[in-house]
Amino acid sequence: MAQIIDGKKISAQIKEEVKTKVAEYKNQGMEVCLAVVQVGNNPASTVYVGNKKKACELVGIKSLAYELPEETSEEELLNLVNKLNNEKEVNGILVQLPLPSHIDEEKVTNAIVPEKDVDGFHPANVGALSIGKQGFISCTPYGIIQLLKRSNIEIAGKHCVIIGRSNIVGKPMAMLLLRENGTVTVVHSRTKDIKEITKQADILVAAIGKPKFIDETYIKSGAVVIDVGINRDENNKLCGDVDFESVEPVVSAITPVPGGVGPMTIAMLMNNCVEAFEFQNR
Ligand code: GUN
Repeated sequence: MAQIIDGKKISAQIKEEVKTKVAEYKNQGMEVCLAVVQVGNNPASTVYVGNKKKACELVGIKSLAYELPEETSEEELLNLVNKLNNEKEVNGILVQLPLPSHIDEEKVTNAIVPEKDVDGFHPANVGALSIGKQGFISCTPYGIIQLLKRSNIEIAGKHCVIIGRSNIVGKPMAMLLLRENGTVTVVHSRTKDIKEITKQADILVAAIGKPKFIDETYIKSGAVVIDVGINRDENNKLCGDVDFESVEPVVSAITPVPGGVGPMTIAMLMNNCVEAFEFQNR
């Protein structure tokens, strides 16, 4: 029987730990504060931003919501980011992506001071991770490391195969698994024979964005499978990049969708907000 890695339970634990820390700081008269900026009303973004605000409430982090109209100019957004950079009470800044097409996302991401970049998207934080220095780590891959560690799954010496090379998941995931002494391979859309490589994986991280793409023919018996996908299947039911029914019988551990990686992202965002607060008040 495969171990089902319970992201709901592990994310709740992490949020409890964050809540305890936030309460201690509150007792000392200090508040942890996250600014959340949304431009326009992309429905998915509205759901994500709403969940982030709810999580803040749960753990006691103050959240400042900036809901800007779709027509906001790049300059106006950069001015807001700049203002938040300079506000001492703001510990973390999150600009929800995607931004409307007339705004250069890279420019905005790079405008957030690295000390408040709780998403871990700024090149200074990406660079810090790749050379083993302290910095903010992208929440989803950071959450996956927590899932593995808190499920007592050894990473050191394991062959870790990541499918997908995005800046938000695939690339930081590779750096993190390497930092944990895994042997890392990244496969992607231009890889010649994906299956040949995934079949060697002790730990497989699927971040493809295609519903149920990975079936048992991609898997080595006894592997650990982490499913980052959030898709809809033919019946409009939520599903991952992994065909759970096909894969679960042959693996030693697997994350479900929903309830696996998903809840970890926000938990790690809350964790990063406290890290930002601690860094700024050290
Ligand atoms: N859009 C989708 N995921 C994310 C995320 O983790 N951070 C931000 N800022 N935008 C997103």
